[in-house]
Amino acid sequence: MVSSEVLSVVVPQTLFGVGATGKLGELVRGFSPTKILIVTDPGVESAGLIDVVQTPLVAAGFKADVFARCGVEAPVTVIEELRQKIVSEKYDLLIGVGGGSTMDTTKAAGVLAADASLTVRDLIDGKPIGASIRKVMIPTTAGTGSEWSSAAVITLDTEDGRTYPYFTDKNYPDAVIIDPELTKNLPAKATAHTGMDALTHAIEAYTCCRASIVSDMFATTAIKLVAESLRPAFAKGGLNIEDRYNLSIAASAAMAAGSVAGVGVAHFLNVALGKKAQISHGSTVALLLPYVMEFNLVSNPAKFAEVATLLGEETCGLSLMDAARQSVVAVRRLLTDFGMPQTLSEVGVTEADIPELVDELMTYQSFPIAFMNPRDVSAKDATNIYLSAL
Ligand SMILES: [Fe+2]
Repeated sequence: MVSSEVLSVVVPQTLFGVGATGKLGELVRGFSPTKILIVTDPGVESAGLIDVVQTPLVAAGFKADVFARCGVEAPVTVIEELRQKIVSEKYDLLIGVGGGSTMDTTKAAGVLAADASLTVRDLIDGKPIGASIRKVMIPTTAGTGSEWSSAAVITLDTEDGRTYPYFTDKNYPDAVIIDPELTKNLPAKATAHTGMDALTHAIEAYTCCRASIVSDMFATTAIKLVAESLRPAFAKGGLNIEDRYNLSIAASAAMAAGSVAGVGVAHFLNVALGKKAQISHGSTVALLLPYVMEFNLVSNPAKFAEVATLLGEETCGLSLMDAARQSVVAVRRLLTDFGMPQTLSEVGVTEADIPELVDELMTYQSFPIAFMNPRDVSAKDATNIYLSAL
């Protein structure tokens, strides 16, 4: 599909490979840093992954300090704490090691530390951002794809407690290492949740109204890789390094697709739902995805039928709409296989919660929904999607 707009694809310098973290010292030497800070969370640190990162740094003659205080959904209190540390101790290279929240914390602290006049509210309000402390990202999950994104999601825990995305080219890392060795011991549940987040990015980007041949090449690759590799990685990911590798590539590719084309309603419904349901981001978007796909099917049945094929469904002999519906069946099969929740009732949401969720959605998300989703969404539509998901 030819796009009517000029598209921009930014892919940071990325080392791919099993054991690629071993090249970190050489990579860092190219930046000639004077002081390095590894940014991570307590779980990654206790899993021993920081040792894997420190070893090649030490071998290359570098010393790196560790900030292991990142939290879920990048709270502003932690971002500001990290900013102060970067500024007061004069770090000039950050190495973000973790999942999406850690990478987003690194991004936000990096731009705030580079400009003393900048506030967190400025980021959310879209104020131009001039610089960032240089940063390398090493994801330890295969899901968010934050390493290939200009976006970061931060939580205003000091104000309304909501999560907000902001976008700037200064969020792109200076380098990325995609090393499946760092994801191979991820527990089965986290593997499924993060993998389904990547799949949701890919399906929503592939079917959204801004999709193009450029975004499609990333999205279709990601859907195919998740279809091949998420089940074996869930079952015994420590042994199936090839599947871990595929999922890591899928996560980055899915985010590249989302960066070019955007995402769909599952992600925007999730923003409203996130605090209420209190489950992981991957779990909520994946829970919502089949209901959103059912709603969006009429917008482009051919593309949903292609999703079904990429996910391994047999569609020969079916009408186009029936083939498209098989894409929903395929996503539900994955959720069933992973034991993930498939209804809002399972995650503590009741019918009485829905008016507030819809109000939140229409107040804060109506612009991106209109811009990206392939079908217009009224408040009544959103209500019906939530009701169908109960
Ligand atoms: Fe996501």
